[in-house]
Formats: sequence, C-alpha cells, structure tokens
Amino acid sequence: MQRDRWTNRLAFVLAAIGSAAGLGNAWRFPYMAYENGGGAFLIPYFIALLTTGLPLIVMEYALGQKYQQGAPGTLAKIKKPFESFGWFAVLAGAVITTYYAVIMGWIWVYLKACFKVEWAGNAGEFFENSILQISSGPGELGGLAIPVVIGLAITWITIYYILRNGVKDVGKVVLITVPAPVILMGILVIRALTLPGAIEGINYYLTPDFSKLLDVKVWIDAYSQIFFTLSLGFGIMIAYASYMPEDSDITNNAMITVFANSGISFLAGFAVFGTLGYMAHVQGVPVSEVAAGGPGLAFVVYPEAINMLPGGSVVAGIFGLIFFLMLLTLGIDSAFSIVEAGIAGLEDKWGWKRKKVTFWFCLISFVIGLLYATKAGLYWLDIVDHWVNNFGLTIAGLLELIVVGWILKPKTLRDYFNPISEFKFGAWWDFCIKYLSPAVLIYLIVNQLIKEFKVPYEGYDQLYLWIGGWGVLIAMAVLAMILGTVKSSVSINVDESKSV
Ligand code: PHE
Ligand code: NA
Repeated sequence: MQRDRWTNRLAFVLAAIGSAAGLGNAWRFPYMAYENGGGAFLIPYFIALLTTGLPLIVMEYALGQKYQQGAPGTLAKIKKPFESFGWFAVLAGAVITTYYAVIMGWIWVYLKACFKVEWAGNAGEFFENSILQISSGPGELGGLAIPVVIGLAITWITIYYILRNGVKDVGKVVLITVPAPVILMGILVIRALTLPGAIEGINYYLTPDFSKLLDVKVWIDAYSQIFFTLSLGFGIMIAYASYMPEDSDITNNAMITVFANSGISFLAGFAVFGTLGYMAHVQGVPVSEVAAGGPGLAFVVYPEAINMLPGGSVVAGIFGLIFFLMLLTLGIDSAFSIVEAGIAGLEDKWGWKRKKVTFWFCLISFVIGLLYATKAGLYWLDIVDHWVNNFGLTIAGLLELIVVGWILKPKTLRDYFNPISEFKFGAWWDFCIKYLSPAVLIYLIVNQLIKEFKVPYEGYDQLYLWIGGWGVLIAMAVLAMILGTVKSSVSINVDESKSV
C-alpha cells in the first residue's frame, strides 16, 4: 500500500504550524510571560527554544521522514522493544484530545452565545453555571451538562470529517485554520491598542524584570512551555513528517514552524494584554487585578472585556465572534493533529482502513470525553491535564530522546537530515539530543514528582488524584506495553516506503 502524502511542502508546514499554534499560544504564553518577568522571560524562552524546541522538532521530523511511520512504527523500526514507547506517546496525546475536544466544545457554545451576547452581565456565572453547571467537587458527577455534550459532539464530527480521507484534506483545511486566527488576532490587537489603557497592559506584559532570571521556576516554565507549545513528545510531528517524501528538507521546515509558532504567541500577548489594560482602565484598577490565564481568561475575563468595548452589544457580539472564531481555528488543527498521531500508529500496525480507524477513534474519544461533560467535568479536566502534561508528555519525550540519543545515536539521524536540508546542523545538535534535553526533562519530572508528594495538587482528595492522575498514567503505560507487544498484521520491518 502506498503511503498517504501531503499535496506539497506548504501543506505539511502549515499543518505543523497549525498543530503547534493552539490554545496554549493564546492563553498560556502571555500568562507565563507576565508571571515570569515579562519581557525578560523571552531570554529563557529563546534559550529553551534553541536548545530543546528546535532540536526536538528536527528530531521528530527526521524520524518520521526517515522511517515513514508514525511514532510506534518508527520506534519499532529502530528496535522492536521500543515500539511501546511510541504507543505511550500516542496514548498521552489521545488522553489530551479527549479533553482538548471538550474545550473546543465550549468554544462552539460561546460562538452561538455571541448572537445574543449571552454572557453579558456576568460572564463567570454564564460559564460556570449556564454552560458547565459545575458541581461541588470531582466526586459529584451530577449528570451531563447538555451544552457541553452538544459542543463536544460537533467537535468530534468536525474532526472525523477532516481526517477520514487522509492528509490531503488536512492540507486544505490548514490553508484556512492557520492564517485565519492570525488575521483575527491582528484585528483584536489593532482594536485593543487603540483603546485607552492598552499601553499599561502591554507594559505589564513586557516590562522586563531581569532579577527573575535567577529563579529556577522561570526556567522550568520556559522549558515546559516550549515543549507544550511545539506539540513535542506525542509523536504528532513524527506522524505528520511520515507523509513527506524521504528527501524533503528538514531543518528549514523546522525553523519555519518554530518561529511562526512563537510569532503567534507574541501576537496573542498583545491582543490579551492590550485588552486587559483597557479593562483595568475602565474599572479603575491595576492591570494585575484583571490579569489571568487559562480557561478563565478565554471564557470569563476576555468576554467581560469585550462587553466593555465602546459601541454596545452589537460590537460586543461581533468581537465575541472574532475572538471565539480565533480560538476555534487556533485549536481545531491542534486537536486533529493529536488524533492523526493515533490514527497513523493504528493504520501502520494493522493496516486498517483509514475511514474505519478514524470513525472508531473519534467515537471512543467522544464517549470517554463525556466524563468532562459531566458537572464535575472541570475538576477532572484539571486533574488529567495536570498529570498528562507534567508526566505523560515529559516521560514520552524523554523515552524518545533516550532511544535516539543513546540507541540510534544522534549522529546517525544528523547524517540523514543534513544532506537533504538547506541549513546544516553541527555537533551541537547531538549534544542537545543526547545530554541537554534529557537532563532538562529528568529535572522537570523529578522536580514535579517531589511537588506532587509534598502538596496534593490543588488540594484535591488523594483518591481523585490517584484515579485521574497516577491511574491514568499507569493505564497508559500498561496499554502501551500491550499494544507494543501484540503482533501486527502488516510487517513494519519491511521497508515499503521505497515504492513511493
Ligand atoms: N501546541 C498546542 C498549543 O500550544 C497544544 C498541543 C499540545 C497540541 C499537544 C497538540 C498536542 O496549544
Ligand atoms: Na503552540
């Protein structure tokens, strides 16, 4: 069977940018920056980008392109027992999609709410009571929140239709979902910067505090932001690159992806903090009082700020649409990229029909995702997200690095990608892959482990942390071992990619 192919290089690069640029750019980066020294955060951020982000993205592109398989197949080709590591990565991504899709679901609900500016008056109450219908704690599931279920179903149907025929369709979709959020964000930035108070917001976001650079936490945040923002460790970039011909440029594509993604993060910071500055100005409070990150920023604070725009409810509705369409287009291509990593793994191993795999993947993820559509959904989302990001992603990335750095040897991979790439990478790349990045990841994991045992995350009952945190991780590891050991129905060790 001939491997699926991107229509052209642009399709691949846009899809990779689409995966990287997601909700994290809009609500995670600006928040990280202002918390960690404002403009001074750019120093650790860029150091993390150059020493880990870029090297790892090059590594993932090179792996996918060289072995022409998703993450499990790629690792199996390097050495059969490592296939499970690939499945672990894919499973970490699969767990993330189950709740990432729920967040996309909230966005659909808000898009509809824009027509009547339904959050007006009290955005917090609209989000928590009308939509999520939050219960008192993770133990009280309290049935399903119907608006969320509807939004979630729309998300999965959308993802199914985009992915079912293969990456040629993905290539078309990203022609819209990559430029659209940038344009929409541009509109938000222009609107924000022409409002009183915006400059104070921007100052708050960017005024450098260099003393923060002495704080280890700032460096930890920079490295974990880079890892998250570039969608590394889930085998997404491996899967996407496996649909490229084996002799395509790697380093140039990687640099475009990395810098486009950072550009989108900076731009988002201007939109967010320009608007928050205006909000603080209207309310007569310091910017620090309105500054926020995460879902609270996107679903409560920003909608409230929109309501304060001059022009009344029509303007609020229009800016609401701009804002939520931006989030939708920003997030949807990140969401389906994770799904693609899973589909690639399953297709490679069992040769199942793409439509079928896609259908079942989406359906099962939808059903599992219903947990987060219960009235306790936000608590579970919070717990699972914390564990998968802090442990799933970092462990998956570390395993990948160990295989490449210590078994395959970085030089082998560099000898493959340098001749076909425009920019040649020196031995520094080997060093980053073999020593630096694994050391950073080990540090992140150990540091986080210690924290977890010192204070229970967000004060949740240990029972729930064991189910949604450690339990999920253990289940992933067991399932990964099983998937990696069972026999495949297609021989992945025969190099069939030459037939392309
Ligand atoms: N990179 C995406 C973001 O910044 C998030 C993401 C993580 C997407 C992992 C896919 C996989 O929002
Ligand atoms: Na990103």
